[in-house]
Amino acid sequence: LFGLPEQAAHERVLLATDPATGLKAILAVHSTARGPAFGGCRLWHYDSELAALNDALRLSQGMSLKNALADLPFGGGKAVILKPEGSFDRPALFAAFGRAVQSLQGAYITAEDVGTTTADMRGMQAVTSYVSGIPREGAFGGDPSPKTAWGVFVAIQAGARLVLGRPSLDGVRVALQGLGAVGWHLAEFLHKAGARLVVADVDAGKVERAVAQFGAAPASVADILAADVDVLAPCALGASLNEQTVPAIRAKLIAGAANNQLATAADGDALQRRGICYLPDYLVNAGGIISVAREYRGEGEEAAVMAEVGKIAERVEELLQRVQKADSTPARVADDWARSKLVRQG
Ligand code: NAI
Repeated sequence: LFGLPEQAAHERVLLATDPATGLKAILAVHSTARGPAFGGCRLWHYDSELAALNDALRLSQGMSLKNALADLPFGGGKAVILKPEGSFDRPALFAAFGRAVQSLQGAYITAEDVGTTTADMRGMQAVTSYVSGIPREGAFGGDPSPKTAWGVFVAIQAGARLVLGRPSLDGVRVALQGLGAVGWHLAEFLHKAGARLVVADVDAGKVERAVAQFGAAPASVADILAADVDVLAPCALGASLNEQTVPAIRAKLIAGAANNQLATAADGDALQRRGICYLPDYLVNAGGIISVAREYRGEGEEAAVMAEVGKIAERVEELLQRVQKADSTPARVADDWARSKLVRQG
């Protein structure tokens, strides 16, 4: 079904429409085995409704694996809103989306993803309590992107040490695809650690700012994946590692924020055959969900959240040990590991 692995089986998928606001959204609950399905909401222009459905199904399944590997007491879900054509009333659109979230009565909890903001989440609070990622006066909360970036950063540090034999990131060359909310914070962390950056974004302004601020070398969007670097960090959109791009990749380590980086499982195998270590996206980019999950449970405190995100480095280490024992690829081993945790919590 829609290019999903055979074992994909979603508990519930809701198509929500509201003609008054132009809302057309898909809310996909993949698994509630570990708890309510938690995952962000994407606002995006899709070429077709089928493409939107495919995205929601793939992303929600990824959230189940991500939340399980991060040991969160949540299942996996995700929502996509098909961006209305032309101008639209944004607060009204998100209020309608919030009512759809509320209609699931807590089976799904939403937060930010590509195309949605803290203001969108705050606006929804009037119609649903099943929302997180909201800045709060005197309390922990808000934009998860810096936490996601920190998780990617510690994963790169661990991978550089264990795979490349580099004890520090000083002088390590990193190619960054995408300088958005996560990519920019990641660039800051990497620059501070002494890494040498090569960057690309479809927004030339962001590239110019990275050149000025971090001394980054600019690359074209077409060339960034094949840059002559040690580490590749895909931080734009999904399926960037595919039949066309994999043969040209020169980095020996891949770790980035983008969800669903592998177009297919076979692309993970191809990377392994080329001697490239791919750290699975959902292990590496869990910092954001760790942040909004703690916020949602009222357990947010900056230092504690950062410490929990920091554990991603330990998981990278454990994954690489498991890979050695299993004589398999990191992507396949992580999938099995995560699926073994997709069980009802006592
Ligand atoms: P964003 O929309 O702020 O940034 C994406 C950036 O990529 C933009 O600057 C865009 O211009 C650029 N871009 C798009 N296509 C490109 C291409 N072909 N080549 C180079 N640059 C391109 O999104 P954000 O929040 O930074 O997320 C990035 C990725 O990380 C997404 O896949 C998202 O699902 C994933 N992610 C984000 C989390 C978060 O906390 N924001 C958490 C977990 C995953």
